[in-house]
Amino acid sequence: MPEELYPVKPEIARVAHVGSMEEYRRLYDLSMADPERFWAEQAETLTWFHKWSTVFDADYEEVDFGWFLGGRLNACFNCVDRHLKDRGNQTAIIWAADEPGVYKHITYRDLKHNVSRVANVLKEHGVKAGDRVCIYMPMIPELAYAMLACARIGAVHSVVFAGFSAEALRDRIVDAGTKVVLTANEGLRGGKVIHLKRIVDRALEGMQTVTTVLVARRTPSEVPMQAGRDHWLEDEVKRQRSTCTFEWMGAEDPLFILYTSGSTGKPKGVLHTTGGYLVYAAMTHKYVFDFRPGDIYFCAADAGWITGHSYIIYGPLANGATTVMFESTPVYPDPGRYWRIVDDLKVNIFYTAPTALRAIAQAGDSWVKEYKRSSLRVLGSVGEPINPEIWRWYHDVVGEKRCAVVDTWWQTETGGILITPLPGATPTKPGSATLPFFGVKPLIVDHEGKPLEGNGVSGALCLNSAWPGQARTIHGDHHRFKETYFTQYPGYYFTGDGARRDEDGYYWITGRIDDVINVSGHRLGTAEIESALVAHEAVAEAAVVGYPHEVKGTAIYAYVVLGAEYACRSRQEMQGALKEQVSQAIGRFAAPEVIHITASLPKTRSGKIMRRILRKIAASEYEGMGDITTLAEPEAVERLVKEHRDLSGR
Ligand code: PRX
Repeated sequence: MPEELYPVKPEIARVAHVGSMEEYRRLYDLSMADPERFWAEQAETLTWFHKWSTVFDADYEEVDFGWFLGGRLNACFNCVDRHLKDRGNQTAIIWAADEPGVYKHITYRDLKHNVSRVANVLKEHGVKAGDRVCIYMPMIPELAYAMLACARIGAVHSVVFAGFSAEALRDRIVDAGTKVVLTANEGLRGGKVIHLKRIVDRALEGMQTVTTVLVARRTPSEVPMQAGRDHWLEDEVKRQRSTCTFEWMGAEDPLFILYTSGSTGKPKGVLHTTGGYLVYAAMTHKYVFDFRPGDIYFCAADAGWITGHSYIIYGPLANGATTVMFESTPVYPDPGRYWRIVDDLKVNIFYTAPTALRAIAQAGDSWVKEYKRSSLRVLGSVGEPINPEIWRWYHDVVGEKRCAVVDTWWQTETGGILITPLPGATPTKPGSATLPFFGVKPLIVDHEGKPLEGNGVSGALCLNSAWPGQARTIHGDHHRFKETYFTQYPGYYFTGDGARRDEDGYYWITGRIDDVINVSGHRLGTAEIESALVAHEAVAEAAVVGYPHEVKGTAIYAYVVLGAEYACRSRQEMQGALKEQVSQAIGRFAAPEVIHITASLPKTRSGKIMRRILRKIAASEYEGMGDITTLAEPEAVERLVKEHRDLSGR
């Protein structure tokens, strides 16, 4: 069957920033031929206190990159203050609360006042440029104020997704060396209360280094406050002026750290700097979503992840957009929630993850059709491969065949979108992220690290260009940065993903090929989950793999060998205890879907766990296990298959 090609909608192309393939190619060629000129022009769209002297400099051996060197700017000024003159009364943020139908509009002027007050509070508590500040907050406006307040005074924020457990939060606070933590008394999500302050208290037990905890009030509940350390944010901001000067940050000064999972148990603090990141986030937001002034833009991600950083806060606000911050879930109180917001707020651009779309689609089209959605123009997808069926559903049902669908591929490390269609230019294929953004040169590389030329090839996805939004290092461990991304395929940045370039040069991301899995769009390292499991006294050994799941995309399957003294315990009891164990160590979202308790794991004679076999069994693929004669105990495979059939009923 020839591949489906969805042409660009003429109504979208007519007014788009990039209105044809010829225009896309022209700009792409320019970005390749003279990247410095190309990016310097883009950087002009920001406001600089002092212009750069060098557009780009790199030491490839040391893996050190710098953009707009010598330039000075402030990310908060660019996202807030510079808009006051022309659009001070325009809404900057619309907060959509957990409670359906409750919205709060925050103008750019309000935003400036609120951000300045929080910035002054931080200063009063001793925060200075370069200091790290941990933000562990629900999706409330104070989270945006806190991030921008840090940017204003040159502090480096480290936002930790509010679904992480006390232990995970503690590790991140210690690694970043933060003295100040911002949180809320409680969070509300899908009508459920999340006891954030309690989690922070547990994370900080016995820790002397955190001297200040600022607590936003989301619910009326009182929480224990430790005298001298804990302060209500609302009391603190009340005393502050609504103005606060900004630091003139160097373009390469850090803007934030964001922890993400890799193939070892220890999360990595990915570090982004100020100038290049902001240029890239703003430009991609404008072009990929074809954003135009006046648009209502709704990215349904959580600000605790990179999507929220780049495409709820920094990109849209740098462009003077009205950006929606959504506190709840796509299915609360029912699966029509997104479209209700779309109608209530007249949303033009909508961006979410395939997992949310799958959950909604499963509930039936009536949840979508109940709402008009006539304001929608561009629909984005991010976080995991979008299966063609759900792509078509997004296009046909949600977008009524009139909206552009953009499947955007990128990562925490890339800072912004790298492979994507442009709404007015790129004909799309369901399931393909299509073509590289300006300045991006993807490579498909074979096992030996040789780039595969031409079309119709698949292998590891690497990048062979520098772009301003790329991460500069891992906080406190540049060596690990080099090792993780630049050694496997020397000379190239290795993404960890596999991909295919089809006959038309379109890219199809096939998913992670390292030990990372994307569960409901959340990125997790299998090693992280394994180390959480083996920390339980009952567990002798654990191996974690991903398997295909209808809603989550990939779900977690844990093979566990219990210590002798636990072998006779009830399986159900142990499975519950081990799921709880992972929830405690990482967060509920990381708890395995399946805990398969078994007597031993399949290993080679040299003791290496055969993950390939474990992945196959978890996916109920019993054929084509490959050569199992090298196993120390070949009969283990048969036993695992039988146990899996019993567990899954397949
Ligand atoms: O495997 C890819 C997948 O998400 C990974 C990056 O995860 P994270 O750093 O948490 O950032 C997620 C949001 C940008 C990638 O290595 N991924 C992201 N977008 C896509 C995707 N896989 C396929 N298609 C996408 N559009």
